[in-house]
Amino acid sequence: MCGIYGFIGEGKVEDLVNGLKKLEYRGYDSAGIAFLKSKNLIVEKRTGKVDALRSLMNGRLEERINAGIAHTRWATHGMPTDINAHPQMDCTKKIAVVHNGIIENFATLRDALTSEGHIFVSQTDTEVIAHLIEKYFRGDLFEAVRVATLDLEGTYAIGVIHADIEDEVIFARRKSPLVIAANDFGTYCASDVTPLISVSRDVVFLEDGQIARLKRNKFEIFENSGKPVENHFYHINWDEKSAEKGGYKHFMMKEIHEEPRVISDALVGRIKDGKVIFEEIKDWNEYIKNIRKINVIACGTSFHAGLVFKYFLERLRPFDVEVEVSSEFRYRNVFVDDRVLNIAISQSGETADTLESVRLVKSLGGKVLAISNVVGSTLTREADRTLYINAGPEISVASTKAYIGQITVLYLLAIYMDQLMGGNHSEMVINLTKLPEIVDNFILTQEDSIKSIADKYVGYTNFMYIGRGINYPSALEGALKLKEISYTNAVGYQAGELKHGPIALLDEKFPVMAIVVDDELKDKMISNVLETKARNAQVVAIVSASDRKVSSLVNDVIRVPDLESYLYPFVVGIALQLFAYNVANDRNLNIDMPRNLAKSVTVE
Ligand code: F6R
Repeated sequence: MCGIYGFIGEGKVEDLVNGLKKLEYRGYDSAGIAFLKSKNLIVEKRTGKVDALRSLMNGRLEERINAGIAHTRWATHGMPTDINAHPQMDCTKKIAVVHNGIIENFATLRDALTSEGHIFVSQTDTEVIAHLIEKYFRGDLFEAVRVATLDLEGTYAIGVIHADIEDEVIFARRKSPLVIAANDFGTYCASDVTPLISVSRDVVFLEDGQIARLKRNKFEIFENSGKPVENHFYHINWDEKSAEKGGYKHFMMKEIHEEPRVISDALVGRIKDGKVIFEEIKDWNEYIKNIRKINVIACGTSFHAGLVFKYFLERLRPFDVEVEVSSEFRYRNVFVDDRVLNIAISQSGETADTLESVRLVKSLGGKVLAISNVVGSTLTREADRTLYINAGPEISVASTKAYIGQITVLYLLAIYMDQLMGGNHSEMVINLTKLPEIVDNFILTQEDSIKSIADKYVGYTNFMYIGRGINYPSALEGALKLKEISYTNAVGYQAGELKHGPIALLDEKFPVMAIVVDDELKDKMISNVLETKARNAQVVAIVSASDRKVSSLVNDVIRVPDLESYLYPFVVGIALQLFAYNVANDRNLNIDMPRNLAKSVTVE
């Protein structure tokens, strides 16, 4: 949450704004920059999106600068106002700080600093950092930041610049990511790799407790004790174009259209002779053969991917799989031993609750397998092993292609585990390899008809999504997509639960999205659909292409390709993404940056 970008070297004001623009998906209620120009520290900030900041800087964008820091905010402490926007400054107005994360002891620090004479102007926790650095500054900015961070409790990624120190910018991290890259023009730091792809593909991730001193021609990293550390470079193979819209109106639509490619990329190198191979975990084969329980830990859409995994693995063999949202898991008295496999799923690899769950598991001696999209993210560095989904950067806040990439890798993982336990699933493996083409064709042929159905339902303020078995997680995910981007009250339920309460909500104003594809539970689903029709609810059913039974019972149908029943989560998931997208688009909403949300939830 929130985005940080900064550099020292040859640049102009616009570079700061452009860097921020690429991070806007991280938070977007206000934006600001601080830069050094002819020994002056200039700070400009404004409520609203990065474009509001761009307008503010109009006429000055071409100004040459030597160094700067920039921030796009997702408010935690204090309303999104110009004053609360970052950068925050100290009393002398010589120090500017941008910050991601939450300083938990900010109230105590602010009281102490106030009694020492410091004057606060904002309601942010960040401002205490600026005043602390002021307190410790004796001419060495790096040292002042280092000592100040020792007083901080909570999480932070910070960037600091000082009016009198022209040749360095300081960054520090605890539990909130920062990445550094350099080229012939300067040295750059950001809260994720997206704005750094154009700088260099070889990047260094700061570790918790580390502080970086960026100079024009080099950067050095230190522990917060002051001890220097060696830089470890990660190579990022993301394509710069993948962080651009490529002709689509929104990133979300572009990312949905990338899904056939995402499935192929997740399969590449992982299938041989009808079998799944995972080089990344082959040294775990003996361990996997002996596991008796799996804990899956994730949040939001990644949690739904985890639920699909549970249903799929249970089809292959009875297995004890527990899927829990990380914000609950981390506070439980969980069972972990050497026969338990813990799988943490996180697109960003930076979700605070998921990271804390991983730390809990590891403190209990458990092993963690990460499923992530971001090379070098905190999760991938803390987990014992990682399976990457290789989906490329996901910019839209609502996750679409990462979800499809996650379930692809999780299907492979389930098959891999079952192979080790004696199963043979070559037919499933072949069916997975056919999916990219099927999905591509489905999107091309059904996109318009899904749009027309969305147009018809755009006026409703409530929606109930129902499914059973492996399509129950799709109901949860479909409802989440609709609610987060269109602000429709959408709830997902196991269809069998309707009559235990939620059916009371239904009437002609409360439509139902029912997943009634051709699978083992279709007849049960039909009974549930009839129950909802009996309450006058309008029903949109997602049915298999060849269905003739359901279409006559409901108001509208979305047809997905006829598939083996275990493959429906792919196409149903995509159909529901397209439906949500079109409802939100009809309402003219800011689809890629929905209100109150941010990509990568790095606060608890
Ligand atoms: C919904 C969405 C969120 C994320 C959740 C976990 O569209 O994007 O629900 O899935 O915040 O994020 P990661 O996967 O990065 O841990």
